[in-house]
Amino acid sequence: MNILITGAKGQLGNELTKILGEGTSELGALPLFYAQSKVVPVDADELDITDLPAVLSFFALHTPFLVFNCAAMTNVDGCETNEDGAYQVNALGPKNLAIACEQYGSRLLHVSTDYVFSGTGNRPYGESDVPSPNTAYGRTKLSGEMFVTSHCSNSCICRTAWLYGYVGNNFVKTMLRLAREKGSLAVVSDQVGNPTCAVDLAYQLLALGASTETGVFHCTCNGEPVSWFDFASRIVSDAGLEVPVHGCSTAEFPRPAKRPAYSALDNNRLRATIGDSMRDWKVALDSFMEKYLMMERMQ
Ligand SMILES: NC(=O)c1ccc[n+]([C@@H]2O[C@H](COP(=O)([O-])OP(=O)(O)OC[C@H]3O[C@@H](n4cnc5c(N)ncnc54)[C@H](OP(=O)(O)O)[C@@H]3O)[C@@H](O)[C@H]2O)c1
Repeated sequence: MNILITGAKGQLGNELTKILGEGTSELGALPLFYAQSKVVPVDADELDITDLPAVLSFFALHTPFLVFNCAAMTNVDGCETNEDGAYQVNALGPKNLAIACEQYGSRLLHVSTDYVFSGTGNRPYGESDVPSPNTAYGRTKLSGEMFVTSHCSNSCICRTAWLYGYVGNNFVKTMLRLAREKGSLAVVSDQVGNPTCAVDLAYQLLALGASTETGVFHCTCNGEPVSWFDFASRIVSDAGLEVPVHGCSTAEFPRPAKRPAYSALDNNRLRATIGDSMRDWKVALDSFMEKYLMMERMQ
């Protein structure tokens, strides 16, 4: 059974590739379903998902049974100034994969975002809530979701949020760097969401991939939704840094893309179907920080 991972050099793609290669993760063993699988991890340099003929040729050669689409343009502000480019990767890319999956009888697990929601509510969004994105990133990701649903009958949309992993840049690494460089940090305290570790998401996606479920799933780490300020405070404390962290408002930290104020997600459908293995965000972060700091020391 061939398993295709697109965007394999990114945070999530890298973690999925690693867990599948090792056959286990810190959350437990993988489903037996993956025992005889051959993993084909590719990034844009080997398979550009915006190129439909290339995608179809790749499927003809490898005929994946299961596809995890982790490829995306994730620079939220970059998408705002290049919505056409973002549409190519975040909307037409998943459409191409969905067309190929339908043609080859493959199952598609497509990853999406909390930013498909406007963020004007005050309770976590469920899977049946109506998306209404504020940003080019959110709009293009929502188009990708719609293409996947309409072109591939055996597909899941997995929305996640505030993702961090061992490779690439993310909020955790940025806060660590800034905390070490500066004497204090100012972090927005009026945007609320779910910090989510790529380790947890990869493990949950593999469980979903092994199931027969289809449709939209929310997949974020559990625990009370928190602000970027709360998230940063825990990162600094886990790193043992004596650096004061101050809350500030979104208005004090203007960005090209208007982030949702409250984009927390509720993993309702996971709990009601295959089970929710996502840890509390604090437990997942503490474990990540311990390993990441050890990796830094060993470099
Ligand atoms: N990061 C977050 O906070 C966050 C939050 C919510 C949802 N998500 C979603 O979670 C998924 C995984 O995110 P991530 O943080 O792991 O992303 P990431 O680290 O930015 O990785 C995305 C990968 O996709 C590759 N890629 C870009 N264009 C491509 C193309 N045309 N064809 C093939 N590959 C291409 C990128 O290559 P280059 O680096 O060379 O461009 C990169 O290796 C995405 O669907 C994202 O929208 C992420």
